[in-house]
Amino acid sequence: MPSMIHMQDRLTALNKAALSGAWAPADAVDWRMTPRRPDWLLPGDFAALTGQLLRGETLAADICHRLQDLVKGALRESFRIQEEEERRHIDLLNRYIEKLNCAAQPSRMTEVFSKTLGWQGDAAALVLINNVVLEAEALTLYRAIETALGCPLFRGIAMRISKDEARHVRLGQMILDTILENMPLDERIGIFVWIRDQWRKTALAALDEYSAALRAVCGIEDRAFLQARWATHQASFSRCGFLPASIMAGL
Ligand SMILES: [Fe+2]
Ligand SMILES: [Fe+2]
Repeated sequence: MPSMIHMQDRLTALNKAALSGAWAPADAVDWRMTPRRPDWLLPGDFAALTGQLLRGETLAADICHRLQDLVKGALRESFRIQEEEERRHIDLLNRYIEKLNCAAQPSRMTEVFSKTLGWQGDAAALVLINNVVLEAEALTLYRAIETALGCPLFRGIAMRISKDEARHVRLGQMILDTILENMPLDERIGIFVWIRDQWRKTALAALDEYSAALRAVCGIEDRAFLQARWATHQASFSRCGFLPASIMAGL
């Protein structure tokens, strides 16, 4: 299988690049800075948004942990490295939240995420939800919050994290090229429907809990937000060869 051999080489190179660029949370940004909150943003909304980022990073780390039991070889090493990186992102956010001095509130997203983690089918579903959907949401949210806050400390954190997340998106594409190769259409449709369900529950929980904060920081309205975000993910699914747009439109 030439494509499998080719993928192993590409994965090994990507793993090497990740390891050579490893960084420590204590040195990643200048921790002498203090968080800057715009006057118009309530402290509770500030804490809610960073808490949401923290939950997303925790889900990503936990999915990577699970994936290490479902795959082998260089791919297992890729997810080991990605888990380490996601745990570093958690560390950065925890340090930032500690400086905000405002504890994150419990969220019903935790319940949705535990169902996501409980997926029992093909590893491709977890790769799609993690390295396509979750990474895209993270990149969008970090960018939006960074722009709205104008906080130099958060900007440093977001830049550091986004570099890793962009590599995780590339990793996902590389893996999907191969693991989707022989997957029958009905299995793909089953995975698509499950991902859409998980995403929708997560998005609705986020809007329910953080609507005011999301509207203030990201400037979004609920329906437009849902439409735009899901359209982005469907476009990614089509681009990575998971399902054609014409089939997804009818599901
Ligand atoms: Fe991350
Ligand atoms: Fe990531």
